[in-house]
Amino acid sequence: MDVIQAENLCKVYGAGSTQVEALKDVSFSVQQGEFVAVVGASGSGKSTLLHLLGGLDRPSSGKVRIDGEDLYGLKEKERAVFRRRKIGFIFQSYNLIPVLSVEENIQLPLLLDHRQPDKAYIADLIRTLGLDQRRAHLPSELSGGQQQRVAIGRALAYRPAIVLADEPTGNLDSANGREVIELLKLAVRQFHQTVIVISHDMNVAAEADRILRMQDGRLIEDSRGGVRA
Ligand SMILES: Nc1ncnc2c1ncn2[C@@H]1O[C@H](COP(=O)(O)OP(=O)(O)OP(=O)(O)O)[C@@H](O)[C@H]1O
Ligand SMILES: [Mg+2]
Repeated sequence: MDVIQAENLCKVYGAGSTQVEALKDVSFSVQQGEFVAVVGASGSGKSTLLHLLGGLDRPSSGKVRIDGEDLYGLKEKERAVFRRRKIGFIFQSYNLIPVLSVEENIQLPLLLDHRQPDKAYIADLIRTLGLDQRRAHLPSELSGGQQQRVAIGRALAYRPAIVLADEPTGNLDSANGREVIELLKLAVRQFHQTVIVISHDMNVAAEADRILRMQDGRLIEDSRGGVRA
């Protein structure tokens, strides 16, 4: 089943002489349980694409369907709720709330929805992330790798169908980076989640089931299995 469908996505930033065509007619679909890497040079449109898939921005034209739902056909508020429940977003810059503890940061999407967190699942997640001894710490008391793991925990708290990650290993050393990728792969296997990850890291791309290559706003390659970045 296609969980994500991008249909003729275009994104233009700015106007007049400063206008940038960041995405040019990008179409593809992703099946439930796929682990997809997005690669391409700086400025090729990777983050723009991920933001549109995640409902964080609006396409200039074209559509995004998540589980068949037209994401940008939803009203702003409906889209925010839909996004929180279906999509976990991992940013390169963690975006943790400094005054909340590790545990509170991870549970934030549920708390925002006034949902009772599934305590056993959250505890299991925190253990898997190796943050057991750090649950009451604030983000400022953690290493970069630990902060990134909290951000991953937050993205997985809702057990979202889709996890979108923009350079999740960009600020990590290779050991921590590998660990983050293993966690994302585990998510795909254990919870049959769909993961789309942007990365400059060859090791990440090598782990993916499928590679989407962007160049100058276009999707120029879509390859499955055993392809190296
Ligand atoms: N908010 C914005 N306003 C204007 N132009 C933008 C904006 N965001 C991105 N762009 C432009 O759109 C193009 C694509 O940017 P994008 O961030 O998607 O690239 P990227 O592939 O993620 O690059 P990187 O690997 O450096 O993160 C670039 O030319 C960029 O300058
Ligand atoms: Mg980017």
